[in-house]
Amino acid sequence: MENKQVKFYIVWICGLLLYIYLVIFFWEFSKFLKYSNVVEPNKQQQLSEARFFNEADIPTLSIEEIKIRIISINKQQLVLNEEAYGPLANDSVIILIQVHKRVEYLKHLIYSLSLARNISQALVIFSHDYYDNAINDLVQSIKFCKVMQIFYPHTVQMHPNEFPGDDPNECSQQSSIEGNPLSKCNNVLHNVTQMKHHWWWKANMVFNGLEITKHHKGLVLFLEEDHYVAEDFLHVLLLMQESRGNLCPDCNVLALGNYLKSFQYFTYHKKVEAEPWYVGKHNMGFAINRTLWTNINRCAKSFCNYNDYNWDWSLQHVSSWCLKRQLLVMAIKGTRVFHIGNWQVAKLS
Ligand SMILES: *[C@@H]1O[C@H](CO)[C@@H](O)[C@H](O)[C@H]1NC(C)=O
Ligand SMILES: *[C@@H]1O[C@H](CO)[C@@H](O)[C@H](O)[C@H]1NC(C)=O
Ligand SMILES: *[C@@H]1O[C@H](CO)[C@@H](O)[C@H](O)[C@H]1NC(C)=O
Ligand SMILES: *[C@@H]1O[C@H](CO)[C@@H](O)[C@H](O)[C@H]1NC(C)=O
Repeated sequence: MENKQVKFYIVWICGLLLYIYLVIFFWEFSKFLKYSNVVEPNKQQQLSEARFFNEADIPTLSIEEIKIRIISINKQQLVLNEEAYGPLANDSVIILIQVHKRVEYLKHLIYSLSLARNISQALVIFSHDYYDNAINDLVQSIKFCKVMQIFYPHTVQMHPNEFPGDDPNECSQQSSIEGNPLSKCNNVLHNVTQMKHHWWWKANMVFNGLEITKHHKGLVLFLEEDHYVAEDFLHVLLLMQESRGNLCPDCNVLALGNYLKSFQYFTYHKKVEAEPWYVGKHNMGFAINRTLWTNINRCAKSFCNYNDYNWDWSLQHVSSWCLKRQLLVMAIKGTRVFHIGNWQVAKLS
């Protein structure tokens, strides 16, 4: 009798332990699936075909070899997942992401994009200024929308001993930062100066340099690697685009992001406001179209000569001093884009 009871308990406890083990296993496994963007076996082939090169030897790649790859990629303009989601519509949203090398932040951004409604209709373009195996693998594993990569060619990585990298000749002259807007002599500024050049290059590339965007008439949304989007960000952007004519016909920029720390979400999440572009407020998650870019592009001189290592104060300068009509922003009060990066890292890495 007692023996039977003990056996019963042992069986019962073993069953319970097995059950707990299975629950934990499936929980972990589902998390793993969710984050790792696991590729189905029959798609694996497709993916490796879609890759440009065998990436195994990257650590030993010389600058020359990286240069060859970058030129080839920019020329090839491969769009991943086009078979799955069809060609780009003229009015689809293009999401343009500037990527340096903070892969941990980029993972979070991609994860947030994967959760967004109607993301399958968008084209996401990653514009890189650092060639890196891990980053390329991450981007090329995306399955939820059309994806493209472009590489800014004139980077510190590829020019370590000349501008924008360290140029010993330039630095012996000790030009002051004030006198020289894109000073080559301040070691801290090298890697950030390329942010401004990269920003200008990628916008021109997307509006004027890519085959796939030649007929595009819709919005291009500007994001950076350390942003995080809300699940409804595309939905809100399209609503703003639709209501622009009624609410603010003169607005030429649509902004999804702001830096408000405390905020009454239920009072404001659906409200928009209109005001002139201000860099401290509107430099995150804004969208423009080709019409406006054509006007900004005419101000290239004003943008480039402005003494600023990043792009945003330069754009502010263009808005105030060069454009016929300054940038007027229609901004959502409840932010749909969040800045998760550390400012200092963002500025200096
Ligand atoms: C986009 O617009 C161009 C020029 O107006 C047109 O030739 C092309 O067929 C359009 N493409 C689509 C998918 O609507
Ligand atoms: C700039 O970037 C390069 C390569 O990305 C790195 O080796 C170097 O330490 C960086 N310099 C500064 C001053 O951050
Ligand atoms: C998603 O796109 C479809 C087709 O364009 C549209 O009918 C639908 O309203 C969109 N959904 C959201 C939440 O924006
Ligand atoms: C682009 O946006 C402007 C507002 O800045 C608007 O007037 C124009 O019609 C838009 N262009 C296209 C092609 O939709």
